[in-house]
Amino acid sequence: MNKPVLECNGIAAGYVKGLNILQGVDLVINEKEIVSIIGPNGAGKSTLLKAIMGIINISAGRFFINGVEKTDTSTHKIVEQGVAYVPQVENVFPSLTIEENIEIGSWTVNKNKKETISQTLEQFSLLKDRRKEKAGNLSGGQRQILALARALVTSPSLLLLDEPSAGLSPVAIEEVFETVKEINDKGVAILLVEQNAKRALNFSNRGYVLDQGRNAYQGQGDELLNDPRVVDLYLGKL
Ligand SMILES: Nc1ncnc2c1ncn2[C@@H]1O[C@H](COP(=O)(O)OP(=O)(O)OP(=O)(O)O)[C@@H](O)[C@H]1O
Ligand SMILES: [Mg+2]
Repeated sequence: MNKPVLECNGIAAGYVKGLNILQGVDLVINEKEIVSIIGPNGAGKSTLLKAIMGIINISAGRFFINGVEKTDTSTHKIVEQGVAYVPQVENVFPSLTIEENIEIGSWTVNKNKKETISQTLEQFSLLKDRRKEKAGNLSGGQRQILALARALVTSPSLLLLDEPSAGLSPVAIEEVFETVKEINDKGVAILLVEQNAKRALNFSNRGYVLDQGRNAYQGQGDELLNDPRVVDLYLGKL
């Protein structure tokens, strides 16, 4: 049976009191699934991830992590519950070394912190070899891999990724998607927000289309790719 790692029911949230950007969003991610969220600019995709991470307040609705309600929980506690987040922008500290970036990601790790950091570096040979270098020296694709590594240091069961392929070369995009797949193969569920809707839906088990802060469509990745309404509204233009 599918076991939900994240379940959102009617989430409303925004940046200014009384002005909701999300108008009641429903979403489920089961263990080990890859689920993508697509939708036009300003649809509220990043806002939804920020609401789950406790970065902005939720004004209505509830969400559950592994069956336990976590609405209005601090970011620290959400991370402790096994959710990791790679934001859309500024997701590494360029002036710090690769190793220091991963150390910062380990803020909620209480036990065997050093060992956990070195185990994380072990999984990414490029990062390990260059661990004393400043993150600012990395290419765009390598920075995204570092951001993924930093998120993984907390051993999450769910990883929220906000447009990890944005602005990257085709080769770097492939590397990032491959890395995300490897992470998923190790049992981590993935919630992927992507501009590249076709790529994302091909890559995912299921997808959600958000529009103006609301659920528009949802389904299996290939169903959405072949749904004429979705193609006309969201894929045709891309
Ligand atoms: N920090 C903020 N303060 C106020 N409004 C914001 C803030 N961030 C985003 N918004 C507004 O919230 C709405 C949804 O933005 P959001 O970033 O969630 O969209 P998105 O679906 O992630 O779009 P994109 O594809 O461009 O990343 C937009 O109208 C945006 O202007
Ligand atoms: Mg966004």
